Amino acid sequence: MRILVTGGAGYIGSHTCVELLGAGYRVVVVDNLANSNEESLRRVQEITGKGLTFVKADLLDRAALDALFYEHPIDAVIHFAGLKAVGESVYKPLEYYHNNITGTLALCDVMRSHGVKSIVFSSSATVYGDPAQIPITEGCPKGEIMSPYGRTKGMLEQILTDLHTADPGWQVMLLRYFNPIGAHISGRIGEDPKGIPNNLVPYVSQVAVGKLEKLGIFGHDYPTPDGTCIRDYIHVVDLAVGHVKALGKMMGAVPKAGAVADSIKGGIGTSDRDAVGGVWVYNLGTGVGYSVLDVIHAYETANNIKIPYEFKPRRAGDVPVCYSDATKARDELGWVATHTLEDMCRDSYRWQSANPRGYEG
Ligand code: NAD
Ligand code: UD1
Repeated sequence: MRILVTGGAGYIGSHTCVELLGAGYRVVVVDNLANSNEESLRRVQEITGKGLTFVKADLLDRAALDALFYEHPIDAVIHFAGLKAVGESVYKPLEYYHNNITGTLALCDVMRSHGVKSIVFSSSATVYGDPAQIPITEGCPKGEIMSPYGRTKGMLEQILTDLHTADPGWQVMLLRYFNPIGAHISGRIGEDPKGIPNNLVPYVSQVAVGKLEKLGIFGHDYPTPDGTCIRDYIHVVDLAVGHVKALGKMMGAVPKAGAVADSIKGGIGTSDRDAVGGVWVYNLGTGVGYSVLDVIHAYETANNIKIPYEFKPRRAGDVPVCYSDATKARDELGWVATHTLEDMCRDSYRWQSANPRGYEG
C-alpha cells in the first residue's frame, strides 16, 4: 500500500514515516517545509534503509496536489500538515483557519476526485478543553476549546465526520494525541522548534544543552499534589506506532450498514463514535499523568544533569490536569505505549545534544 503523509517532514510525521517504512508501506510525503527541514526525510531514509518520495508543495496548491495524486496512486492519507503554535494562533487566527481548515478541505476534495477516501487525522486532547472527567475517555464531551489552533482541530473532526455522513465510503480515523515528546532512539530525528520553544520538554532540552538559562514553570498553585500541572506525556515513537496500528484497522474495515443514519443522530464529541462504522476516535496517550516537576526530575535522573528552574505565574489557557484513559486503543488497536518517562527524557536529550541547532547544524 502507498500512503500519502502530509506534513511528513515534521516532528511526528518523520517518526511515523520510519514506522510506516518499517512495516512495509510505501510512503509519499507532501510538505511545504513551513515548519520543517527536508533533512529530516533524508535521515528517515538513512534510519530505515528504505526510500520514500518527497513532493514539496502546499496543501493549498490544488494543482500540485492533483498532480501528486495522478503521479502516485495513493491508498490512504495520514494528515499531519498544519500550523500548531497555540499562542501564535491567538494572534493569527485567519492564517491558522486558512492553513489548517482550507488546506484540509483542498486535500479532501482532491482525494475525493481521485477516489481516495481513507484519512487518518491528527487531532489533539485539546478538543476536551478543561476535561469533564479524568482519566479522559473518548466518550468525554468536548469542552470549551481554548485557542484558534485547538478550534481548528474540533472543526476538522466535525468536517471529516460530515464527509463520512454524506458518503459512508469515507474511512475517517480521528487520533487525539496527548503530549508527544522524545525522539527516535538513533538521535537522528527529533523535534526541531523554530525560535524559543513553547512546549515543556523542548524548552527543558535547550536548558540541558545550555542554549537557554533556566526553565520557567508556569504556576505552582494548581490543585495537584505538587502544585504543577499534570499531563500525559507519550513517546513520539509510540505515537508513530499507534498510527500504523490505526491505519491497519481502518484499511481492514468496511463501513457498517446504517452508518449514515447513526452518524446523523449523534453529535461528534458527545458520544463514542466507534458505533458508526467509518468514523473512529482514539486517544493516543499512556493513561498516566506526570507533573511538570516529575518531568524535570525524570529528565535529571535519566541524563544525570541538573535543570535550573524558577516558578512563574500560570500560563493562560493551561488546564490543571489532563491525561487519557488509553484502554480503547489497547483493546481495539492492540496498541499500548511502551516507553517510560525516563526513556522519553533520555531520547529527547540524545537528540538535542547531538543536534544542538536541530537540522540546521
Ligand atoms: P510539525 O510542525 O513538526 O509538522 C507539521 C508539518 O506540516 C510541518 O512539516 C509543516 O511544514 C507542514 N505544513 C504545515 N502547513 C502545511 C501546508 N499548508 N502544506 C503542506 N505542509 C504544511 O508538527 P507536529 O508536532 O509534527 O504535529 C503534526 C500534527 O499533529 C499537527 O497537525 C499538529 O497540530 C498535531 N498535533 C501535534 C501535537 C504536538 O504536541 N506536537 C499534539 C496534538 C496534535
Ligand atoms: C500544548 C497546547 C495544546 C497542544 C499541545 C501540543 C497550550 C495551552 N496547550 O499543550 O493545545 O495540543 O501543546 O502542541 O498551549 N510548561 C512550563 N514551562 C514551559 C512550558 C510548559 O511550566 O516553558 C508547563 C505548562 O504550563 C504545562 C506543561 O508544562 O503545564 C506542558 O506544557 P506544553 O508542553 O506546552 O503542553 P500543553 O500545554 O499540555
